[in-house]
Amino acid sequence: MKIAISGTGYVGLVTAVALSQIKHNVTCVDIDENKIKKMQQGISPIYEKDLEELMQENKERLTYTTDYKMAYSNADVIFIGVGTPEKIDGSANLDYVYTVAKQISESITKDMVVVIKSTVPIGTNDEIEKYINDNTKYNVYLVSNPEFLAQGSAMHDTLYASRIVVGTENDYAKDIMKKLYEPLTKEPYNVPYLSMNRRSAEMVKYASNDFLALKISYINEIANFCEKVGADIELVTQGMGYDKRIGNNFLKAGIGYGGSCFPKDTKALHWLSIAKDSELKTIKACIEVNKEQKLKLYKKLKEEYNLKNKTIAVLGLSFKPGTDDLREAPSIDNIKALLDDGASINAYDPVAINNFKKIVDSNKIKYYTDMDACIKDVDIVMILTEWDSIKNIDLNKFNNKVVFDGRNCYSLEEIKKYSFKYISIGR
Ligand code: UDX
Repeated sequence: MKIAISGTGYVGLVTAVALSQIKHNVTCVDIDENKIKKMQQGISPIYEKDLEELMQENKERLTYTTDYKMAYSNADVIFIGVGTPEKIDGSANLDYVYTVAKQISESITKDMVVVIKSTVPIGTNDEIEKYINDNTKYNVYLVSNPEFLAQGSAMHDTLYASRIVVGTENDYAKDIMKKLYEPLTKEPYNVPYLSMNRRSAEMVKYASNDFLALKISYINEIANFCEKVGADIELVTQGMGYDKRIGNNFLKAGIGYGGSCFPKDTKALHWLSIAKDSELKTIKACIEVNKEQKLKLYKKLKEEYNLKNKTIAVLGLSFKPGTDDLREAPSIDNIKALLDDGASINAYDPVAINNFKKIVDSNKIKYYTDMDACIKDVDIVMILTEWDSIKNIDLNKFNNKVVFDGRNCYSLEEIKKYSFKYISIGR
């Protein structure tokens, strides 16, 4: 099939490459000319495992352009994969989605299936369908098809997805979507395919993300409580995880969740629940717990030290390992707080330094991709992202320092063998 995808961020580009891998011809549309030029040269604009290799492997089926008219008028199916960032009040900003909807209505030359991959509030597909159909003479059928990819494993999560959720009540659109995804439902992928009504599909995405966020806030709150009662959260979660009903995923206590999805999707659903006069109280609590958790480690540090004129080594900037993404990363709030207290920072990260410089601009931060150099002359180390390089460090290098670990990278048994002070979460 000929597919056009608007937006070449994590969702749009990864979906495009996955669809090209199952032999569809895909045209990626973006307004950013520099990004388009890069991709035309086979370079991925984001750091994501396997993405660039698959872009190159499928290059004869992938086209990149800013010419949306050409892309949309030639397509059999159009995907919308643009961002839906949060507004000041926490609701989802649908401006980019509407811009693409307008462009689609101006460009198409036949009846069309339009698929929304972006995470959008429940009811948005109905609104966009009406909007496009009011502005074109062709019949347009909107399909909700949320994505569930996690950064760092986005390509794998899309090709070997946990499930494909397709929401439409229209039989024509149902047939098209089934054909489009058929290769992924077979060997070697074997992805379960769920067909449902549009509003349920939109809700699946929020309910899934918010449940995972809730699980993290829950375990973080339990971790804080473990500190009060003398329990060890790592042992507690180990004991919990054997219960298959609980499972052992997303039970890692730390300094809170970040990223492009959980913070925004919890706030958007909470906002929507208030708008519908039916507040989701668990989601409200989840958001509050996470906000406090992000600065949990910093507060422990501040209780013990006067930070003025101290240099702190901060290990890890990205919101999680395997990505250079800094959206809602705890490193931002923590480093800003440390700078406000008069501290200087030695910051280590294997890939996220350039992005961090765009967000926090201070001559009191020195950047390192060499961890040894970063920690060499400092007394206090703060771990904010559990990169393998950090987890696998020779712990002798921390001797005589104080290590504040926001990701519980090391077992307490192991730490006993070394001569440094170690403060972590929930232990
Ligand atoms: C998430 C969802 O996993 C994905 O399905 C959805 O489509 C988008 O949002 P992502 O944001 O890439 O993906 O990262 P994820 O690995 O889920 O981690 C999110 C945050 O939670 C990170 O900050 C991570 O450090 C934190 N986390 C995760 C924990 O603190 N503890 C855990 O046990 C798991």
